[in-house]
Amino acid sequence: MRIETLSVFPQMFNDVMSLSIIGRARRAQKLDFVAHDLRKWTHDNHNTTDDVPYGGGAGQLMKVEPVFEALDELLDEDPTTSVIFFSPVGKVFDQSIAEDLAKRQRLIMVCGRYEGFDERVYSRADMILSLGDYVLTGGELAAMVVTDAVCRLLPGVLGDELSSVDESFSNGLLEYPQYTRPAEYRGLQVPEVLLSGHHRNIEQWRRKQSIIRTAQLRPDLLSQAVLSDEESDLAREYLGSGS
Ligand SMILES: C[S@@+](CC[C@H](N)C(=O)[O-])C[C@H]1O[C@@H](n2cnc3c(N)ncnc32)[C@H](O)[C@@H]1O
Repeated sequence: MRIETLSVFPQMFNDVMSLSIIGRARRAQKLDFVAHDLRKWTHDNHNTTDDVPYGGGAGQLMKVEPVFEALDELLDEDPTTSVIFFSPVGKVFDQSIAEDLAKRQRLIMVCGRYEGFDERVYSRADMILSLGDYVLTGGELAAMVVTDAVCRLLPGVLGDELSSVDESFSNGLLEYPQYTRPAEYRGLQVPEVLLSGHHRNIEQWRRKQSIIRTAQLRPDLLSQAVLSDEESDLAREYLGSGS
């Protein structure tokens, strides 16, 4: 898969896209990543990418021409690419969108700055995404979050093929609690069942904990989970009881 970003701060991606799982995925050629500098598609001496808003108001807006010209050139290489813009007015990014994006061949993510984009750029969008109900100073962090979430879903990127299947949201449930050594620390014990080596009991305990935790903390997710009658009763018992 190929992911490209278009922004006025391409250098922000250097470390995040070189380290850990993403860095490994790139070195193994499972992910091809390029951060483009939007200023490359400006034509004045100051490489201007912003301008004042029509109608007045605070701040500057991203100019329409550099974005259009960059996309003209980049899409010319491959018209099947999906173009994503970031904005607080977009659809809120979640695991199901990450799964959808992970199946695509090539993504171009366009990152805003200032007070956002001239509205006309969205005529070039396949998708407008938001990270949530808050305002960031720029879309670069959003692009890093989306790239990270998508990258770990690409075949062969995680060492253990199963590790993204069991994670939170993958089955409409939050992940069960996990522990590592030591078995007791400052009086805090690891649940006995996890020390038992009894795989069936461990599996059942984990499933139950996932359901309880989701019912307590994120009951809104339960409608997407496939639960038996017994599991639905369990979920009802714990509904909204967490903090
Ligand atoms: C300061 S924000 C612009 C906010 C805009 N004036 C508004 O009120 O909707 C600048 C850029 O940061 C990015 N951004 C800000 N908040 C975001 C969020 N919640 N999700 C994704 N991108 C965001 C977008 O690319 C946006 O164009």
